Amino acid sequence: MASDKPFLSDVKTLRARARKNLDTGAIGTTYVGDVKKTIDILQSVLATEIVCVLRYSMHSIAASGISSEGVKAEFAQHAKEEHGHAMEVAERINQLGGKPNFNPEGLLTRSASQYAEGANLVDMIKENLIAERIAVDHYRELVRYFGNDDPGTRVMIEGILRVEEEHADDMHDLLVAHEGKPMLK
Ligand SMILES: [Fe+2]
Ligand SMILES: [Fe+2]
Repeated sequence: MASDKPFLSDVKTLRARARKNLDTGAIGTTYVGDVKKTIDILQSVLATEIVCVLRYSMHSIAASGISSEGVKAEFAQHAKEEHGHAMEVAERINQLGGKPNFNPEGLLTRSASQYAEGANLVDMIKENLIAERIAVDHYRELVRYFGNDDPGTRVMIEGILRVEEEHADDMHDLLVAHEGKPMLK
């Protein structure tokens, strides 16, 4: 009976392939897909994460009023996690042979999420929930896009996606706590 399992290379082939084309850097010769396009996509993810760091950092300072202390702490924690994501993505761009773009010029154009200050605590929570939803949407698409062509990048995005889903959930809970109901359908 024919197996539909993917073909597995033997050890000799794996060793020989690893020795060939060392100039292709860390990614090797079996990378399926367009490395340049992957780098471009990851530059946009990097910009998205940096904008999230900036927005949450700003909110963690600006949030004020009764019962804002817990929210401030949550914003600060998220800012830290978004920074971790940015570094992970930058590291991956570097592995793929690209140069991570940290240039503040054009940052908002490259980013999927927006930098919104929010007039008050509830507005800030809403803006963060919106930004998290954008990130979740975008990263789900990317997981499907990378699929089996680039499992390394896909697994990284999956890890980040899980955290963004938690972030969205945290913002949703805060919104319910402060408004009595979720204002976003
Ligand atoms: Fe993030
Ligand atoms: Fe997030």
